[in-house]
Amino acid sequence: MLELKVLKIGGSVITDKSLGSFEVLKKEKISEICEVIAEKYDNLVVVHGVGSFGHPHVKIYGLKDQVSISKIHLACLKLNQLICEELLKRGVPALPIHPIEGINFDFIKKSVNNGFVPVLHGDVTVDSRIISGDDIAVELAEKLNSKFLGFATDVDGIILNGKVIKKFCPEMLEALWIVEKKIDVTGGMRKKVEKILSLKTDCRVFIFKGDAGSLRKFLNFEPVGTEICRQ
Ligand code: IPE
Repeated sequence: MLELKVLKIGGSVITDKSLGSFEVLKKEKISEICEVIAEKYDNLVVVHGVGSFGHPHVKIYGLKDQVSISKIHLACLKLNQLICEELLKRGVPALPIHPIEGINFDFIKKSVNNGFVPVLHGDVTVDSRIISGDDIAVELAEKLNSKFLGFATDVDGIILNGKVIKKFCPEMLEALWIVEKKIDVTGGMRKKVEKILSLKTDCRVFIFKGDAGSLRKFLNFEPVGTEICRQ
């Protein structure tokens, strides 16, 4: 397989995730992102967060029984279908993949090799856990031996002392302090960085703003936002 990229698009980029929001899309942002992906989508796997198509549902229904799990999963599916449709409209052969069924890495490899763009999403499991898109993205990068992993977020990168830093090293973890007034059942920026730091394979990882310019850079293998260095 050629150089493979894994792109995680944060739920806050494509949906309104502010407190009280429930299944609110950011339609213009979704169009913008899909347009850029349509320019260059070879050897790409996309994972999207679910934002207000999942987090509020977990808060409201909880993970207490099968009905709650089904409701949460169905909301995630709704967003996934919409994203795939928007990509498909622009000629991108998006292939929806649902982590609740377990992730078949060989199948994902095979679909990329055959020209598809697998599109996974944050989800729930049948044994009542939440699987975050961040965890999925890191696992994909590891298992598919990806060389470039990107997290498109609602910030320009990691901000320390009011400035976006170009390179983040593990020693900076303690200083990482981000105020987030959002409903996030999967942990926000600090958890994201901790997860990235646990990545075992050789892969460059970037956190950047989910806008057209930054995304274009990432898809062209150019450094963007903050690079997370692991040593
Ligand atoms: C969470 O997905 C899944 C559920 C809440 C069911 P993510 O953690 O990937 O979503 P975002 O990116 O934070 O919105």
